Amino acid sequence: MAHRIPQHVLDDLLARADLVELIDRRVPLRKTGRNYSACCPFHHEKTPSFTVSPDKQFYHCFGCGVSGNAISFLMDYERLEFREAVNELAEQTGVRLPQDDTATAPQKAQADLYPVLAEADRFFRYQLRHHGQRQRVIDYLRGRGLEGTTVRDFGVGYAPPGWDNLYHALRQQGYATRMLTTAGLVITREDGNSLYDRFRDRLMFPIRDERGRTVGFGGRALDATPPKYLNSPETPVFHKGRQLYGVYELRRQRKTHLRQLLIVEGYMDVLALAQHGLPYALATLGTATTSDHLQRMFRLSDDVVFCFDGDDAGRQAAWRTLEQVLPVIRDGRRVSYLFLPEGEDPDSLIRRIGQHAFEQQMTTATPLSEYLLDHLSAQTRLDSVDGRARLIELAKPLLNKLPAGAYRDLLEQQLAQRVEMSITLLKRHVTPPAPAAPPVKRAPPPARRRTLPRLAISLLLHRPTLASKVQHLDALKQLTDPGLPLFTELVEYLQHHPHTTLGMLLERYRDTDTGRILSKLAQAGPDLDRHLIEAEFMGVLDKLQRVYLERYWFAKAARGELREDELHYLRSYTDIDINSDAN
Ligand code: UTP
Ligand code: MN
Repeated sequence: MAHRIPQHVLDDLLARADLVELIDRRVPLRKTGRNYSACCPFHHEKTPSFTVSPDKQFYHCFGCGVSGNAISFLMDYERLEFREAVNELAEQTGVRLPQDDTATAPQKAQADLYPVLAEADRFFRYQLRHHGQRQRVIDYLRGRGLEGTTVRDFGVGYAPPGWDNLYHALRQQGYATRMLTTAGLVITREDGNSLYDRFRDRLMFPIRDERGRTVGFGGRALDATPPKYLNSPETPVFHKGRQLYGVYELRRQRKTHLRQLLIVEGYMDVLALAQHGLPYALATLGTATTSDHLQRMFRLSDDVVFCFDGDDAGRQAAWRTLEQVLPVIRDGRRVSYLFLPEGEDPDSLIRRIGQHAFEQQMTTATPLSEYLLDHLSAQTRLDSVDGRARLIELAKPLLNKLPAGAYRDLLEQQLAQRVEMSITLLKRHVTPPAPAAPPVKRAPPPARRRTLPRLAISLLLHRPTLASKVQHLDALKQLTDPGLPLFTELVEYLQHHPHTTLGMLLERYRDTDTGRILSKLAQAGPDLDRHLIEAEFMGVLDKLQRVYLERYWFAKAARGELREDELHYLRSYTDIDINSDAN
């Protein structure tokens, strides 16, 4: 688990960040009154319903409902993890993040590696343009049907023949030997004294992270000398189990949520597909798909198509991904499998049949549920009772990996059909015994009524400075009516931190149920003028005190427990009718 960043640092970060500028650099904004607006970058629309408020440091789309602060925007738009978004913002605002002991060493090692990898990247690209043997490489690229723009977009380069070209070039620039070996660019010979370049006489594919930083390389042999591909080793910045090849190149041209993602096996596949109009293809780097990979894929799209060769190896690899995929399948996510004819890979196929026919094939990809049942059915005979019972046994452990939800229900239904059993009976077989059943399905939140506390919170979120107007906080804090504890919590916090923006406030509740309630309330609030908000708030506050506080005070008075100051306050209100319905 990532180290938690202290709240005051996040406050500082958000106080210094300028949300309007941050968004405007990525999505050009137009000023509309006090706010700014644009067509929403998170869903497709023709008229702008995405608004950014400089006062609140908060954005919100009336169309699709997304909302948040500078950190959320970077996470959603740049598809960063929380920690990455915070780092990015810290870099931009010049805020120094505290370096805790556990983080210092690896973080420092990482930061040091990026420049040397960038330098190596430049070196390889330079060689592709200037090396004496460049024609050989160009011929190879031509032979593979790659165009100049594709080569440029993917930053393809050339590692020249010879043992220490890169080593000398980087040493000359002052990079320490140790760093070159840590970055996986240079290898120490077994005698321990001499060093040599890892990549020699190879076509070089830089592997870039989501932010475009080169983290490693894949090098393809130009002839039949094995290995065909040589990859960077695992380093502090390069983890094959997390990296998806092509993610930066894709993000650079498609900013919004993708309709579909195609997962292939090779570098060349990604390049060829992009060149032929399918830029949404990514590759895992010669490793099995990990759950980390899957998380990253689903952040890019809800619809993932895995493409495999039709041979045995491809089928085995496909089945391995299925076992990883099951636990992360949620309603709304779609996974399917496209098996290519034997002897064909995406690179050869797209060059043969072109974009249109390829995408046509993608629509025929086998849905995960069908693939799962087909695969298992092939291992048994469904025309006998024994065979059908066996299918249930085979499917059971897989079904149990699925979280509860519509997807699981559907799969169970399909299984029931295949084994000719009623779904009720089947459920008895596959659902784990009651106590072990994961309580995944959460009760839907109760319909939100517009209660006084909620209205008060909503107004407060619009203008946090209004917290200073709240009196009798100590008494209000005694009350536990729905919504009031949260209201008083917010008021108390804002009274102590008067310069808090809405964006900062919501950050405190990130990923909590309260946070979700608050961001709903922040969006639901009335669209009032500034001075009207204050008047409205004072009115609500007054009612709040009458309805809740007095009930509390009268109850206390009835028990003879009223304090002097409370009695005094109550007397000043003798004119009120305590039975009035304030709603
Ligand atoms: P393939 O052997 O299917 O090659 O490897 P390919 O992608 O079709 O390559 P070309 O078209 O002959 O150039 C698929 C992927 O497996 C990894 C690479 O990531 C490669 O793109 N691989 C393959 C290696 O890491 N090392 C190898 O020696 C071979
Ligand atoms: Mn190939």
